[in-house]
Amino acid sequence: MIQPDSYVRSLLKRSPGETVTARGWVKTRRDSKNVHFVQLNDGSSTTDLQIVIDQGVVPPETIARITTGACLSVEGELVASPGKGQTVELKAVTVTLHGGADPEHYPLQKKKHTLETLREIGHLRTRSNTFGAVFRVRNALASAIHKFFQDRGFLYVHTPIISASDAEGAGSMFGVSTLDPAAGAPDYTQDFFGRRTYLTVSGQLEAEIFAMAFANVYTFGPTFRAENSNTPRHLAEFYMIEPEMAFCDIHGDQDLAEAFLKFQISYVLETCRPDLEFLAKWYDPQLIPTLEAVVASQFERISYTEAIALLEKSGKQFEFPTYWGVDLQSEHERYLTEELLKKPVIVTNYPKEIKAFYMRANDDGKTVAAMDVLLPRIGEIIGGSQREERHDVLQQRIREMAHHGMKEESYWWYLDLRRFGGVEHAGFGMGFERMMMYLTGMKNIRDVIPFPRTPGNAEF
Ligand code: 4AD
Ligand code: MG
Repeated sequence: MIQPDSYVRSLLKRSPGETVTARGWVKTRRDSKNVHFVQLNDGSSTTDLQIVIDQGVVPPETIARITTGACLSVEGELVASPGKGQTVELKAVTVTLHGGADPEHYPLQKKKHTLETLREIGHLRTRSNTFGAVFRVRNALASAIHKFFQDRGFLYVHTPIISASDAEGAGSMFGVSTLDPAAGAPDYTQDFFGRRTYLTVSGQLEAEIFAMAFANVYTFGPTFRAENSNTPRHLAEFYMIEPEMAFCDIHGDQDLAEAFLKFQISYVLETCRPDLEFLAKWYDPQLIPTLEAVVASQFERISYTEAIALLEKSGKQFEFPTYWGVDLQSEHERYLTEELLKKPVIVTNYPKEIKAFYMRANDDGKTVAAMDVLLPRIGEIIGGSQREERHDVLQQRIREMAHHGMKEESYWWYLDLRRFGGVEHAGFGMGFERMMMYLTGMKNIRDVIPFPRTPGNAEF
C-alpha cells in the first residue's frame, strides 16, 4: 500500500537527498543518449513525478517494456530537478516492473483523445490527466458537502434505495422485482417485498421522517430516474444531496441553498487549485474567475411570475414559448441566469400544476412555495420547497392527484407526520453531478461520474 508520505503528490514536496519509493503508472517515457526519463503518476496529483533512469540501472529489455500505461515501483534518491514544472525528480536505483502495457494494444497513448473516445474505454480513462483532475475534484466536493452539514449539526441519514413510494409523483421509476418476467401478468403480492417496489427517485419523503425527530438532516446517495432523456445534463443514476429542516420556511431554505453552493465552490477553489487550473487550460479558460464571481455574488431571488414577465419582455424567440403556467425549460432557465440577470437566480412560487404534490400551497390558491436555483451554463442545479405541513390540505392534494395514480393509502405514514407533532419544514435536492459540471467546466454529465448510466449505456 502507498503510505501518505509516498504519494506522488507528497514526494513532489519532499527535499532533495531523501531516499524514497514511488509507485504508479507510466504516463510517458522519453530517451536521450545515456538516460531515460519516465513520467510517473499514482492519481494523487496533476503533476507527474519525473523518474530519471541512467543507462545500466535497468536492463535494456526491461526499459523497452516501460511504456505508457505500465505499472512500476521505483526506489531511488530525490534530486533537485533542473527541468521546469517540478522542484525534485527521482533518480532511480532499483526499478520493478509490475505490469507492462503493450503499446500495440494499450489504447491510451500519448496523443490526445476526445472525451467521447475516452468514454468508450471507461476502464482506462481514469488514468488520463483530465479524469484524474475530475475525480479528485469529485472526491473533494463530497468531502465539502459532509463538512458543510456536519459543521451545522445536521444528521446524515441513509434513506433507502429500494422504495415503495413515488416521491416526485412523476412516475419515471425503475421497477425492482424478482418475479419472472416471462410468467405473464405480474402479481406483486407474490413478489419479493410483497408489493410493488422501485429504485428511489429521491430520499426526501424518508428524510422528512428523520427531520421530524432530528430537526436538521441530510441525505447523500444514489437516485434513479427512468426518463428517456438523452441530454448532456441527465443521468439515469445520479447522486443527490437532500437537506431537510424542521422549523424552516421557504426563505430559510433559500438562504441555506445559497450558502451551500458558495461553500462548495470556495472549498474546491481552495483544495483543488492545480486540478482547476488544468481543467481551465484545456476546457474553459473562464472557469476560475466564473467560480470566484459566484462566491462573491448575491443570488437574485425572483418569483416564477416575475421570471415569466422578464422572459416575455426580453422579446427573445424560444423553441418552447413562454406563458404563465408553463414549466420553465432549460433554454428559459439559462437565458434568465446567463443573459438577463447574469448571476445565479433563485426562482420561487411556481404554479402548483407543474410541481410535486408535497409542496406547500400559497394563499393565492394558484402557486406553491417551490424554489429552483439556476446557475449559468447549467440551468437547474437545485430543486426544493417548503413542505405542506397542514394535514387536510395535503390529503386533499393527494386525492386530487389520484388520476395520476397516487393512492392515498400508500402515503398514510407521510400524512401521519402531519397528525403527530407536525411543524413547518422545508428542504431541497442538489444534483451532485450538475454541481460537478459547474465546478469542472465539463459540458457532458457523463464525464463527471465514474460510471455513467444513460439510456442504452451500462457497460462499465
Ligand atoms: O428537482 P428534483 O427532481 O427534486 C427532488 O427530487 C426533490 N425531492 C428534492 C428535495 O426537495 N429534497 O431534483 C433535484 C436535483 C435537480 O435540481 C438536479 O440538479 C438533479 O437533482 N437532477 C438530476 N441530475 C442528473 N440527472 C437527472 N436525471 C436529474 N434529475 C434531477
Ligand atoms: Mg426540479
